[in-house]
Amino acid sequence: MIRSLLRDDDLTAAEQAHVLARAAAFQRDPHHARPLAGPKAVAMIFDKQTLRTQVSFSAGIAELGGAAVMVDGALARIGERESIADVGRVLGRQVEAIVWRTYEQRRLEEMAHWSGVPVVNALTDEFHPCQLLADLLTVREEFGELAGRKVAFLGDGACNMGHSWLLAGALAGMDVRIAAPAAFAPAPEILERAAAIAAGTGGAVAHLEDPVAALEGVDVATTDTWVSMGKEDEAAERARIFGPYALDEAALAHAADHAIVLHCLPAYRGKEISAAVLDGPRSRVWDQAENRRHVQKAVLEFCVAGGLPVEAV
Ligand code: CP
Repeated sequence: MIRSLLRDDDLTAAEQAHVLARAAAFQRDPHHARPLAGPKAVAMIFDKQTLRTQVSFSAGIAELGGAAVMVDGALARIGERESIADVGRVLGRQVEAIVWRTYEQRRLEEMAHWSGVPVVNALTDEFHPCQLLADLLTVREEFGELAGRKVAFLGDGACNMGHSWLLAGALAGMDVRIAAPAAFAPAPEILERAAAIAAGTGGAVAHLEDPVAALEGVDVATTDTWVSMGKEDEAAERARIFGPYALDEAALAHAADHAIVLHCLPAYRGKEISAAVLDGPRSRVWDQAENRRHVQKAVLEFCVAGGLPVEAV
């Protein structure tokens, strides 16, 4: 069976726990497993800007014994120069897996349909599942168990990070609070799906307009840029709308005393997060950025193997 990671809930709760455990093992010993030895090739396509994702996948694929093949999204112009279906069929004959950062989720789904190899979401407009696994690994390092931990995400609740926190946090049995203005609430179908997952894992999900209520007693406070890729012309308006949702020292005072701070980066100090918080003692953002490599190696291992190893099922 071909296993892709197109959105966070493509993994079951047990599979998510397995991937996180394998990521922790890769963190302890980066070279202990080489499922891409050969080397086997993995195509990486970026239709949007990147730093962390490109570097962490490239380094991780090398550590797995494989070879990363960069496909320049601006040259390939997938869906314009050539259909997604044709690109998928061509790439599937050349590589073991495809990692793609693109726009609409449906583009990724179409690639997965046609390529015949695992496809990994390296960020779409709707979801950022690799980032969420890195975030969960960071929380796991700090607190051990994820289940029952409270997290508040502040800002644009309709963005990929808000959606992925809902799904991945619910799978992990966490209490996920999205603090966002009504006009930037998470998509209702994602909130409903996350609530259904949470009902089975003991987690909880909620959208709150009040950032102080969302932050009350949380273990993890997190945010993301207010200006997602493609929204640059709305920057001034978004700064006005999201101002009350800034993660600064006054906001963080409502979190638990032991709370940690996450940010998927790039960060804009003085906008969605203050410099004092981002660079302060509670920040775990550099561990979080490193963890991208460990979790993505575990994802590639899982996908290339076609799912959980027999002994883990
Ligand atoms: N967090 C993240 O995905 O970083 P890049 O956009 O730099 O890849």
